[in-house]
This record gives sequence, C-alpha cells and structure tokens, in this order.
Amino acid sequence: MQLGFKKYILEDSTYKGGGKKIVVPEGVTVHKLSSNENPLGYSPKVKQALENTLDDLSFYPDNTDIRLREALVKDFDEVLRVDNFITANSGSEIIDMISKAFLREDDEIIVSQPCFLPYTAFTRWMGANAINVPMTADYNYNLEGILEAIIDKTKLIFLASPNNPSGNYIPLKELREFIARLPEHVILVLDEVYRHFSEAEDYTSAVPFVLEGKNVIGINSFSKTYGLAGLRVGYCYAPIEISNYMRKICKPFLLSSLALEGAIAALKDVDFVNQTVALVQKERKFVLNGLDALHIKFWPTQGNFVLIDPPVPDTEFTVFLEQRGIMVRPVGNFGAPGKVRISFGTREANKALLVSLGVLMKSQTTTV
Ligand SMILES: Cc1ncc(COP(=O)(O)O)c(C=O)c1O
Repeated sequence: MQLGFKKYILEDSTYKGGGKKIVVPEGVTVHKLSSNENPLGYSPKVKQALENTLDDLSFYPDNTDIRLREALVKDFDEVLRVDNFITANSGSEIIDMISKAFLREDDEIIVSQPCFLPYTAFTRWMGANAINVPMTADYNYNLEGILEAIIDKTKLIFLASPNNPSGNYIPLKELREFIARLPEHVILVLDEVYRHFSEAEDYTSAVPFVLEGKNVIGINSFSKTYGLAGLRVGYCYAPIEISNYMRKICKPFLLSSLALEGAIAALKDVDFVNQTVALVQKERKFVLNGLDALHIKFWPTQGNFVLIDPPVPDTEFTVFLEQRGIMVRPVGNFGAPGKVRISFGTREANKALLVSLGVLMKSQTTTV
C-alpha cells in the first residue's frame, strides 16, 4: 500500500537531545555539564506550587493560559501585553509551532551554524529547506551574508543571542541595522533562552523590536534560568498580528496544570532568578580564567556554557572526562566539528572539571 509518507520526514534523522546518564567507576561523583541546566536546581517556591497542584491532577488544567501570560506581562515590566505572548510546553515546541504556522513545502529558512539543531530539524518536517550561512571563523554571525541569502521563498531566519553552542551575542546596534534591512515577507526568530545570563551592556532581547511592530519573534524557555528543563515550559512574544495568528494553532490544554502553576511560581521568585544569574556569571569567570591558565582555546561567551577547542579529538576528550564523572557535549552535529560545549556548574563541579583538564593537559605535554 502506498502510504502518504513525506520524503523529507522519512529522510530526517530524528533529533535527539543530550544524554542523561553515564556509568562511572564506583565512588566517582557525576557532574552533568552537558545540557546547560541550572546548577541550583529550581526554586523551592515552584516545588511548593507543584505539590499544591498534585491533588488536582484528575481535573483538566485551566482552559486558558491567561494567568501565565499575565505573570509574563509583569515579568516584562508591563511593556508587553498578554496578547503578545504564546505559551507552549517548551522553547522547542515554540520552534515547532512557528514552523507549522509559517512554513510551506519548498519554503526556505536561514540558519547560521553552529546552531541549535531543532531550527533545521523541525522546519524540515514542514518541507522547508534550510539555508546555512555559516558563522565566521571566530563564531560571530555573518549578518551581511544572511541578508544576501534572502530570496522570495525565505520565510524565517533563526538567530540566537546568546547562541548555543558558541555563546556569542548580537549587539543592539547590529541587530537594529539588520532588522531594518529585512524585507517584509521575512520573520526574524530571535532565540533568547539564555538572555538572563548576558552581561554585555549592548545586549538586547527582542522587546524593542516587537514594540516597534517589526517582524520579530522572541523565543524563551523555563529550562535554563528557572531550572525547569524537566517540566517543559516555554513561550514566545511577537507583535499582536503575529501572536494572534499563532494563537489559532494553540491546542486546548497544551500546558499541564503542573507546567502552568510551576511556571507562574517560577516567574514570581525573582530572588531565585537573581541567584542563578549571579552564580552563572561568577562561575563563567572562574571557568574561563581556568581555561586560560591551561591554554585551552575557547570563544567568548554570554551564555551558561562555553565552546572550547579540546586539546585531543572530541570523542577522546569526552570519554576522558566521562570516566572522571564529568559530562560535556561534543557539538560536531551542531556545525562545530571537533568542538565541545561545556556548561558552567557549581564551584565544586567546575573545580572538578578544571582539575581533570589539568591532568589531561599535563599528559599531553609529557607524551609530546
Ligand atoms: C538555543 C536554544 N533554544 C531553545 C532551547 C529549548 O529549550 P527547551 O525546549 O528545553 O525549552 C534550547 C535548549 O537547549 C536552546 O539551547
């Protein structure tokens, strides 16, 4: 029987996220520095909210996400309105919704590798073709090259700031000039799931552009800053014309009661967010100084992770660290062959990382 399988779905190798567990020798502590998770875990206030919700799980959740969107409006200092927001059960799901809403077969999207894999994977499921305008050798966006690659079929451009896995960001002035030159049929999807961690004075989110009514969508997640990767909650915001259009494909009861209540409680616990950001920024300095001292090449980062050029081949490097309980992520499949991404953890985890890297570097100099 001729089933209606779509060629581009059959050809696709399903996207898999990073692994969760490794086997280590007895007595070795595992430090998971492979998925950019929150070293502090998540807010105790969220835990309380989740516990309070458990008794209600036999009922459907609220049939609207309005309370979460109201909490988001507060979180954005009331500059955006409830109608600007779309919520979903992860940032990844938002990418899927954007693809569904805007892409037809043979449309084009533009990405800049190395980048988060779902941009190409999820858009491919709609039959769209991804055009890669690679980053420069020092892992910055080639914004001019992206503008040159736009054709009539181009519908979406995915840029992340800070970018995963390279950690670079797009300064306000550059982004403003870029957006001003976008043709009207193109939407910029600005992935800002790591935005809280940036310390750069000229960092910008998508907010000013959304307020100006530009074709820009800002993607966010509760997985990083709020430490809720396992709960699966994300959202985006866009000018009302775009968000109200996207709302038409929001499924009823998309977010579970736990996700809704957990996310609302997470937004209220500003102290937890501040602690997380302070920890990441402090540990970022600590790890980068350590890498410098060991003469390990890395690229500047505004994220809760760093991209490095390992001193030995990436697989050997990963296995070496895993044997010592440290999980890191090789990112060849993101478009950075041979490079490895390392998340910043607690001071204990980061020390363990630097000690192990010290051992590796020493073994390298003695074997040469
Ligand atoms: C750049 C980027 N965007 C979006 C996401 C999506 O996060 P989630 O699906 O966990 O909300 C991630 C997660 O790693 C990411 O790195």
